Amino acid sequence: MKMEKNGTAEIRVDGKTLTYPVYEGTEGERAIDISKLRKETGLITYDSGFMNTGSCASDITFIDGEKGILRYRGYDVADLAEKCEFIEVAYLLVHGSLPTAVQKDRYSQLLNQHSMIHEDMKDFFSNYPEHSHPMAILSAMAVSLSSFYPELGQDVKEDLDMTVTRLISKLRTIAAFSYKKSIGEPTIYPRHDLKYCENFLNMMFSSPVRKEPINPVMADALNKLLIIHADHEQNCSTSVVRGVGSSGINLYASIAAGICALWGPRHGGANQHVIEMLEEIYREGGDVSKVIERAKNPRSPFRLMGFGHRVYKSYDPRAKIAKELCKKVIAATNTKDPLLDIAQELEERALNDSYFQERNLYPNVDFYTGLTYREMGIPTNMFTVMFAIGRLPGWIAQWLEMNNSETPIARPRQVYTGPNLRKVTPIAKRK
Ligand SMILES: CC(C)(COP(=O)(O)OP(=O)(O)OC[C@H]1O[C@@H](n2cnc3c(N)ncnc32)[C@H](O)[C@@H]1OP(=O)(O)O)[C@@H](O)C(=O)NCCC(=O)NCCS
Repeated sequence: MKMEKNGTAEIRVDGKTLTYPVYEGTEGERAIDISKLRKETGLITYDSGFMNTGSCASDITFIDGEKGILRYRGYDVADLAEKCEFIEVAYLLVHGSLPTAVQKDRYSQLLNQHSMIHEDMKDFFSNYPEHSHPMAILSAMAVSLSSFYPELGQDVKEDLDMTVTRLISKLRTIAAFSYKKSIGEPTIYPRHDLKYCENFLNMMFSSPVRKEPINPVMADALNKLLIIHADHEQNCSTSVVRGVGSSGINLYASIAAGICALWGPRHGGANQHVIEMLEEIYREGGDVSKVIERAKNPRSPFRLMGFGHRVYKSYDPRAKIAKELCKKVIAATNTKDPLLDIAQELEERALNDSYFQERNLYPNVDFYTGLTYREMGIPTNMFTVMFAIGRLPGWIAQWLEMNNSETPIARPRQVYTGPNLRKVTPIAKRK
């Protein structure tokens, strides 16, 4: 769908008034089109972190951060999480509509057909040093896929569909293999008789000598966790995927760049840091006060992990789903995790503290997802990998949209603040 022109905005620069069109999206967000600003005035806009900049028009995901709304292709994320499997949501994001039962079966078969990785790629795993972070392996493997499947072009729809299917299926296999490498166990191949999430759990937890039964509560939780991560409009890693892709490079390389962006502690890496923070509180006796005070201290760079969000200034709708999932998984495993009690206390204390209230800081998606993965037996350093598997269809959908819309190469400007022109002093005379 196209943005509709809906009004104009006047900008007064150096005594001259310029008029620019205002466009409106389907949910009413309005944007001033300043694409002619520099040409007409010599000025650029300054918007560090792009907090006010719309970098594209997109049909894929709608977020209202004030109201806590997240929709993919018009469907509410909670509705999708309740009624769909992850591969249906992946299909929705990539193709624009939910699959019929026949389409879903075909898609599932196709994903299974492409689930193995080239045998030579398996050697890569053995050469990584012990304790390599699986995100480093995942990003390297994603870009390496372009060497193993180089014959596919980017302009032929069928070729691109094949690349998309390969990525969605193989990234999950690579993720499970990287985990097996980290624990020194042989890899387990994907199976054609298992569904997407069950297959992943099997590759993670079975071994050649022991077939681990798949708990349906865990498979359901995994489907839901992947769904709530599946897209989030122009976040850091998605902007990276679009930006890198705008240079004309292939989908694999763009996704590898997105994986690297997601790794950061202020982005997808936060779920790992939430658990580390909760473990530290537990080790120190369970009192959450110290952590709250550290987070509030303006002289400390420490932030309460899993709290706050660039877009959500109310409760993150994904955090609500994750909190309920976490409790369900804990009930199914019949365990008691002291970290859940600490997390709930931390949340309650923060939500009642004026520092967090005034800044609209609420739990984000990472606050409860780490705990849920932990209960499912997924180790901490795999959390961000799980996020990447979930986010993959979103990255792909965003990349395809960018690729189909003749997007110019991403190339922001800057305000230069360095030295003015100076002469090079010959080295012998430099002090
Ligand atoms: C996600 C995040 C980067 C968003 O940042 P942002 O929208 O740019 O917000 P800002 O950095 O402008 O923060 C606004 C204010 O809230 C404070 N703040 C933001 N998140 C905070 C947190 N988690 N703990 C303590 N204070 C926080 C900032 O220090 C700032 O305070 P100030 O106005 O006194 O300077 C930030 O909230 C954060 O670092 N959270 C922790 C990491 C995390 O969970 N990331 C996952 C995101 S899904």
